[in-house]
Amino acid sequence: MTTAVSTRKSASAHFSKLCALLIFILMAAVSEAKPAFLDVFLSTYKPDGASALASAKCGICHSSVPKRNPYGKEVKKALDASSDGKMTSEILQQVEGIDSDGDGWSNGDEIKAGFLPGDPTSHPTGAAPKGSAKPSQATSPKSGDSTSSSLIPTHAFHPVVVHFPIALFIFAVVLEFFGIRKQNPALTTAALWNLGGALTSMAIVTPTGVAAWLLGQHKLEGAMLIHLCLAVSSLILMAVTLTSRKKLGSDSKVYWAILLVSAVVIGLTGHFGGQMVYG
Ligand code: HEC
Repeated sequence: MTTAVSTRKSASAHFSKLCALLIFILMAAVSEAKPAFLDVFLSTYKPDGASALASAKCGICHSSVPKRNPYGKEVKKALDASSDGKMTSEILQQVEGIDSDGDGWSNGDEIKAGFLPGDPTSHPTGAAPKGSAKPSQATSPKSGDSTSSSLIPTHAFHPVVVHFPIALFIFAVVLEFFGIRKQNPALTTAALWNLGGALTSMAIVTPTGVAAWLLGQHKLEGAMLIHLCLAVSSLILMAVTLTSRKKLGSDSKVYWAILLVSAVVIGLTGHFGGQMVYG
């Protein structure tokens, strides 16, 4: 009786800590993403609050998030060419001399006057200063796919969040192992929560993976195809593992077989996913 109560207590304490950690890291990952680019832009140019530029916010670089306008493409090109891939004032300054939207005004001149460098309909009135603006290379049809070496941006969401289900699942195997060895019901219960957590986090990871595939230029072949097939298998196997754990219990050999096969498939999924991001 007392064991059951304390087991439940420690399991729910474990679960709430796990949730807190998950939420914290997800928030960190989200805030680490692109909105920081806007901050860099605003602190570099400090546009007048009433200008079209200031009110465009993400629209300075995106026609509609996450699609980039010609200026956003130019910035991405400079970003990809930089050594560490970090967004800085220098990156933005590199593309000032170019006329990304082709309206005759250079990005730098448009930004200084408070107009949008990625929108040909937004520019100062009057004639553009002659010869100051270089036409854009980044927006010509060819360069788009050849410049980007990392097809899924390494700072994108998916490569960050994928670590959750993998870590939770592997931790579940460890907890399950020691739970059985030490005859400790608290550990096996915690293992069950971890399996649940792993499956739940897949609800977040799967859409980010699909988004990364759709937004990137990955063809459905090679590592991408293998990763996708393995990811689908992982999802199914995780659900099967959780079900068999509930139906058969943690000392069932069948359950252990499913658990270990799933762990291997999940590991392989991560391996082929990592190949795409890290080469
Ligand atoms: C100074 C230009 C700039 C501003 C301002 C900007 N972005 Fe971006 N954004 C980019 C670039 C460049 C990329 C591509 C980054 C990469 O591939 O590494 C990007 C990528 C993204 C992506 C990922 C999509 C993809 O293709 O990888 C999202 C989502 C995004 N931005 C959202 C936003 C939001 C929301 C805002 C406003 C708060 C914003 N951005 C403001 C330049 C900008």
